[in-house]
Amino acid sequence: MNNFWQQLPKPIIALAPMAGVTDAAFRIICKDFGADVIYTEFASTNALVQGNDATRNMIAFDPREQPVVCQLFGHDPEMYRKAARILEEMGFAGVDINFGCPAYKVVAHGGGVSLMRDPKRCAELVQATCEGVKNIPVSIKIRASICKENCDRSDPANHVTALDLIDEIKRLPVAAVMIHGRSYEKPFDGDPNTGVIKQVKKVFNGIVIANGGINTPEDAKQMLDETGADGIGLARGVRGSPWLFKQIKEYLTTGSYQEYSWEDRKLLALKHSEAALKVKGEWGIIEMRKHLAWYVRGTPYAAKLRSQLVRVNTIKDVETILAG
Ligand SMILES: Cc1cc2nc3c(=O)[nH]c(=O)nc-3n(C[C@H](O)[C@H](O)[C@H](O)COP(=O)(O)O)c2cc1C
Repeated sequence: MNNFWQQLPKPIIALAPMAGVTDAAFRIICKDFGADVIYTEFASTNALVQGNDATRNMIAFDPREQPVVCQLFGHDPEMYRKAARILEEMGFAGVDINFGCPAYKVVAHGGGVSLMRDPKRCAELVQATCEGVKNIPVSIKIRASICKENCDRSDPANHVTALDLIDEIKRLPVAAVMIHGRSYEKPFDGDPNTGVIKQVKKVFNGIVIANGGINTPEDAKQMLDETGADGIGLARGVRGSPWLFKQIKEYLTTGSYQEYSWEDRKLLALKHSEAALKVKGEWGIIEMRKHLAWYVRGTPYAAKLRSQLVRVNTIKDVETILAG
């Protein structure tokens, strides 16, 4: 087993999966800024097994991104077994299972965070995935908790927690857990529950990656200090600021970090756009619109620039607006 997780220097700074954001162009930029491990956008087990070209193209990666983990969602163990095998053949360094997504279209099909309601079922999916791979590690991404269905949410006894899930899967060879410290009920708001992450770190033998609300180097240090986790996963904090990986490493080693100027932002936005064009053609520029809006956030004339950048169609448009 090539368990790359155990070979990474700590603390591990990971790019967490973000559907519609962590595509190949963005991932390579994050890698250049020092991301230690990269997660793809999540991919459907069924689509992979059925040989869906769009899904394969979506998760295609550049070898420079390695170690790259592909995240799967679905609800059928057999599909996980087969999809995991396909991912190993494609050269991924690891396979991850999504037990955290709250999106309606995923939850309505019995996937994502809704699986946490049934830890035994999660264990079946994990076991099947582990059986599907020969030589690469399996990891999972979970949330702090989810309430059981049709119950009084105010009663803690009605919640399934990350610890319940870990208890069920700890007999299986799971190499790493990324835990988003927020509940299903408050999916993206509020402070993450660092207490539950700390408890997971105490009982889980593999690598624990803490996630949620890390937007600055100071947040990163606080998360590591409060949880004792082996690493952190960055998500919304790196949209428009992929240098956060580098800043965190600088801050953890020296206590200070480099700030990035408006000129740096413009140069990176252009470099990112060129990478998107190379990977996806003109469609890559359309998809860049949201990234461009993130790059100009908090900068001079942000509102005016954003209103222009969300309409770009070509790389020339991007160059002209950023030069203006
Ligand atoms: C646009 C978007 C897409 C996401 N897609 C995924 C996904 O595909 N798989 C997953 O496990 N989590 C996904 N997440 C959750 C993030 O990985 C992360 O757990 C969450 O955003 C909390 O971290 P943050 O507070 O640093 O953003 C997504 C989040 C966002 C904002």
